[in-house]
Amino acid sequence: MIIRRIDQNDRKDIDDFIVNHWYTMDMVVRGESIDMGNVDGLYSFEDEKITGLITYRTEGDEMEILSLDSLNENRGTGSRLLEKVVELGRKNGLRRIKLITTNDNLNALRFYQKRGFDICNIYMNALDEARKIKPEIPFIGMNGIPLKHEIELEMIL
Ligand SMILES: CC(C)(COP(=O)(O)OP(=O)(O)OC[C@H]1O[C@@H](n2cnc3c(N)ncnc32)[C@H](O)[C@@H]1OP(=O)(O)O)[C@@H](O)C(=O)NCCC(=O)NCCS
Repeated sequence: MIIRRIDQNDRKDIDDFIVNHWYTMDMVVRGESIDMGNVDGLYSFEDEKITGLITYRTEGDEMEILSLDSLNENRGTGSRLLEKVVELGRKNGLRRIKLITTNDNLNALRFYQKRGFDICNIYMNALDEARKIKPEIPFIGMNGIPLKHEIELEMIL
């Protein structure tokens, strides 16, 4: 598995990967609409294909993971991408890495907590606000759970 940083040459392939997964290039986090076509990230490449993508942004001494998607689940892809981002944060002398997931994403809550992230905030009913910006956000999320709250996790570096 090769891990590469997104550059302008592969931007189109990355955009296709994002649209294939999310059907749209916009993401709403904490009431903010983010154009995923401009964000930084790392991707994994295997057998001539993109198999995973992690995106992030940095503000001050904090990094925020915006997305993490693996096509090859349960084979170490997500862990490798996350490790690389943590490594990058440490190398750049950052203080903290944070991310938002939602109350229905039990897989992500397990995945991040087992890898050193801790819940630091819960934004109750935040999806009501997000739906005002992006009405297509469903009411029932993963695992058949009502999609309602944003949960923030952090890792202090
Ligand atoms: C969450 C997500 C990114 C994890 O990616 P992944 O590639 O499956 O991650 P990994 O393979 O590294 O780890 C997943 C599990 O597989 C296990 N695993 C890793 N390599 C393995 C192997 N070779 N054989 C068997 N199991 C393995 C890991 O131990 C891990 O289990 P654990 O979390 O209980 O420790 C992925 O499930 C995903 O894309 N979900 C949808 C999008 C999403 O919810 N993103 C996160 C919100 S931002």
